[in-house]
Amino acid sequence: MKTTTRVSRRRFPLAGVMALVVGAAVAAPQVQAEEQTQAEDAAREVREPAEVYRQVCAHCHAPQYGVGPEITIAFPEAAWEARGNYIRMTVRNGRAAMPAFREAKISEAELDGLIQALVSGELDDAPVADASVGEE
Ligand code: HEC
Repeated sequence: MKTTTRVSRRRFPLAGVMALVVGAAVAAPQVQAEEQTQAEDAAREVREPAEVYRQVCAHCHAPQYGVGPEITIAFPEAAWEARGNYIRMTVRNGRAAMPAFREAKISEAELDGLIQALVSGELDDAPVADASVGEE
């Protein structure tokens, strides 16, 4: 197989070039998509953890709504990594009644920040909505 390939490349140098071109064309959309995602990430402003929590999580998890359990209570530092992995998995894959959130909704950078703020208890008692919401 190896020999055949080498011989045919030497005899038809164009074939090798064509293979490269075709290969590049096939690979291009994938690469483009990745570059686009990265570009979007870079262009998009990274929201503060409190902002992400308020916009995406609070309307289910804040105690006054109570759709999901409270998630803002601090964990002991020794458990941050395990708890963080669990939160990441839950957010990206969903869990029972909780939907999954892909990167278009929460970027990796935002999720990193959100996780840190959640496990450290920084978001405990964070404002959960615009001042008008929840006031009857
Ligand atoms: C549509 C409502 C909804 C939204 C929005 C939502 N969740 Fe949940 N979440 C739930 C429900 C319901 C559960 C309980 C699932 C179960 O039955 O196990 C849950 C469970 C969880 C759990 C596991 C419970 C625990 O404390 O171990 C974590 C962690 C979690 N959510 C994080 C988040 C984060 C972070 C966000 C925002 C990025 C978010 N959720 C947005 C409804 C929601």
